[in-house]
Amino acid sequence: MDKGRFITIEGGEGAGKTTLIQALAHTLKADGYTVMVTREPGGIRIAEQIRGVILDCDNTMMEPRTEALLYAAARRQHLTEKIMPALQAGQIVICDRFIDSSLAYQGHARGIGMDAIRSINQFAIDGIMPDLTLFMDIEPEVGLQRVRQGDGREINRLDLEDMQFHRLVREGYMLLMQEEPERMVRIDAGGTPEQVLEAALAVIKGRFS
Ligand code: TYD
Repeated sequence: MDKGRFITIEGGEGAGKTTLIQALAHTLKADGYTVMVTREPGGIRIAEQIRGVILDCDNTMMEPRTEALLYAAARRQHLTEKIMPALQAGQIVICDRFIDSSLAYQGHARGIGMDAIRSINQFAIDGIMPDLTLFMDIEPEVGLQRVRQGDGREINRLDLEDMQFHRLVREGYMLLMQEEPERMVRIDAGGTPEQVLEAALAVIKGRFS
């Protein structure tokens, strides 16, 4: 890996993205790479403020397109302020969620349509796409069970959606994988953290070494 690489990690609730990202960063750093870990929505002050508005459980009035535009706005700021400078400096950027979250959640599950979400996001990302996206696939029932049993993170407004919503999110990701099988690779998120890490490393090394 001799130049910046942009890797995004996607998946439904409770897929174990955070655990995988920490382990990946640890392993790649030990191998001598410079790694920057970040997350959406958020990652920098302005985007964290937007995140607060989007995920506030009291904001039940939020209209779907408002939500989609806020995610895209947070993405733009995060991309230009944090991700692009790191890529230009040759780092490996591992980002927890990116455009595919908007396509799966707002485009497919909320029913706005993937084409509409793609077009507002093109304005936000201006052609910058991940080099590789790992889709951590888990049955929504299992993922939500993990969240409810308490994996340490707070319950947010999107966790409160019904099961059908989370099934649609998964379906959305499946559609995206069919569209871009080169960029987006499925990882079975049902295994142990060690198995998931091993599978993810195999894909990353196979792709970039
Ligand atoms: P977060 O607490 O980061 O959850 P997770 O650990 O599952 O990533 O909350 C992010 C929530 O925002 C999550 O429910 C997915 C949702 N989301 C979208 O709906 N669209 C998007 O574009 C992004 C980035 C996230």
